[in-house]
Amino acid sequence: MDIFADGTAAPETEPAGELPEVEAARTLPLAELHLHIEGTLQPELIFELAERNGLALPYSGLEELRALYEFSDLQSFLDLYYANMAVLQTEQDFADMTRAYLARAAAAGVRHAEIMMDPQAHLSRGVSLETCVNGVASALATSVEDFGMSTLLIAAFLRDLSEESALEVLDGLLAINAPIAAVGLDSAEVGNPPAKFERLFAKAREAGLRLTAHAGEEGPASYIIEALDVLGVERIDHGIRCMEDQDLVERLVDERIPLTVCPLSNVRLRAVDTLADHPLPAMLAAGLNVSVNSDDPAYFGGYVDDNFAQLQAVFELSEFDRSRLAANSIHSSFASEERKAELLDELNGG
Ligand code: HPA
Ligand code: ZN
Repeated sequence: MDIFADGTAAPETEPAGELPEVEAARTLPLAELHLHIEGTLQPELIFELAERNGLALPYSGLEELRALYEFSDLQSFLDLYYANMAVLQTEQDFADMTRAYLARAAAAGVRHAEIMMDPQAHLSRGVSLETCVNGVASALATSVEDFGMSTLLIAAFLRDLSEESALEVLDGLLAINAPIAAVGLDSAEVGNPPAKFERLFAKAREAGLRLTAHAGEEGPASYIIEALDVLGVERIDHGIRCMEDQDLVERLVDERIPLTVCPLSNVRLRAVDTLADHPLPAMLAAGLNVSVNSDDPAYFGGYVDDNFAQLQAVFELSEFDRSRLAANSIHSSFASEERKAELLDELNGG
């Protein structure tokens, strides 16, 4: 199927009388834009790193840990997510976690990944900026030769902490010349509106960084508007609650603002009751620039291919929709125009 430069595709008609194809869906080349590297820490690796670092875990084994992966909301997930980071101590730990993600994502068809990390969650445990940044960055530095995947790093700031803390950490990242391409905003959303971080985002923009922020996951549609108008972000992470504000939907469509949607995350964190209730099909139908991403795949039941497979099982997405989602992910990335063209070419079978 041909995908045009604006992300739309040439319509295809099915010959009359032919049965629909039942073969497995082709693994599409795509960009993963919403991924927290700490959320890729698999239970097995948690135990391995605990042993390597001589740490005692508060769980007797994998089964007891896995039993905790029943979340009632974002905060109940964040509590476990931050607790499990205790096993990340050395540069090698961060590099091993990152390499494991790259290997798995490559198998899922990811050809470009924009990877968030939470420096403040490591600094507060006494792990230095150099340790966490250099560890992740060392694995990303060879992602093209090792996995055929271009990558870039996004420093995400914890919105439940103060703006002063975020500003201090951004200064620290700039001082060590950390290889970051963008900043993001994550953690507990409700009660921590985007406007709290106006100075942080202004400073990041001045430093030449790209801007994205979580908004409209658990928080209201007004947080999406605030992230766009006060922070000046180019992209919204999640954004599903835009569907509650028709004027906002029209604006997002007109301005082609990317929304990095994470369906399995939304189910596991109870933003929606079941996958069948997910607004993704309505978002596509509205003409929104949505992509499919895995968020914290070790916690939410799957990587980006698992998200696609489950969407496919529930919604029977057409090849047109799947290709549009992949094309949107590429267009919405912070990759160079040259890299985007390469990936779009690949998607179009070139
Ligand atoms: N939302 C907010 N903060 C996060 C998430 C998320 O889904 N994952 C990791 N930090
Ligand atoms: Zn997220």
